[in-house]
Amino acid sequence: MSRSHAGRTVVISGAAAGIGQALAQRLAADGAQIVIADLSDAADTIALVEQAGSKALGVRCDVSSAEDVADLARQARSHFGRVDVLIHNAGIYPLTPFSEITFEEWRKVMSVNLDSMFHLCHEFLPEMREQGWGRVLAMVSNVFHAGRGGFSHYVASKGGLIGFVRSLAAEVGAEGVTVNAIAPSLVHSKGTTGFEYFEDIEQLQAIKRAQQPTDLTGATSFLTSDDASFITGQTLVVDGGWVRA
Ligand SMILES: NC(=O)c1ccc[n+]([C@@H]2O[C@H](COP(=O)([O-])OP(=O)(O)OC[C@H]3O[C@@H](n4cnc5c(N)ncnc54)[C@H](O)[C@@H]3O)[C@@H](O)[C@H]2O)c1
Repeated sequence: MSRSHAGRTVVISGAAAGIGQALAQRLAADGAQIVIADLSDAADTIALVEQAGSKALGVRCDVSSAEDVADLARQARSHFGRVDVLIHNAGIYPLTPFSEITFEEWRKVMSVNLDSMFHLCHEFLPEMREQGWGRVLAMVSNVFHAGRGGFSHYVASKGGLIGFVRSLAAEVGAEGVTVNAIAPSLVHSKGTTGFEYFEDIEQLQAIKRAQQPTDLTGATSFLTSDDASFITGQTLVVDGGWVRA
């Protein structure tokens, strides 16, 4: 691994498991200190970060709560001094046909997946702008491009994130802050354990194997590094070539 992130502090939401955990492990190997913001206990991820030779702070945080995210920012700053990279990866994806989605479930998905981005950026962007360097990255989904039955609220929330990324990028680019998104296919993770569609999805992809969390780590490392300083407002589709646009 390179030391592309040496001296950087990276906040990753939803990094106690799944994709976020793999991102934490990789960025730790790249030299970053990691703040794990998750509803669940982060002990496993902290151990992986330490094995990778870096330091981690686990903060119990519901990213849909403005108060929790403000507390996350306070803890991150008092522990590591500054935050350079924000990766909003936490997300929920209940499979429900539109006719059965209650407004409560709709709001829950919007709140965890999209409102959370408002809270996180509200807390972490000002210091990035002030220090003249920052990276914001959102984990979205390739289903925004293709659409997918049973996920209308989920896809709407990810579409909201993609639009937000494009617009925020235009506001903060002059201050050294880039804002991008990564769109995976169906990925083996804690949340997709037991999903039945892996074989069907593999057939839609050009690369005919199930996507793993580690398939997203290289793109994440790159987009949050100095090397990607002229790339902003983009959604990079990392999905084995399902969406080819
Ligand atoms: N797994 C996939 O197939 C897939 C595909 C495309 C996009 N994504 C996106 O990738 C991201 C990660 O997905 P995953 O499959 O690794 O999920 P996962 O369910 O395996 O892990 C998600 C983590 O987020 C945490 N979390 C959930 N709600 C939270 C909240 N309100 N506040 C803080 N933490 C919370 C969970 O505790 C868990 O540790 C999500 O945004 C998801 O939409 C996943």
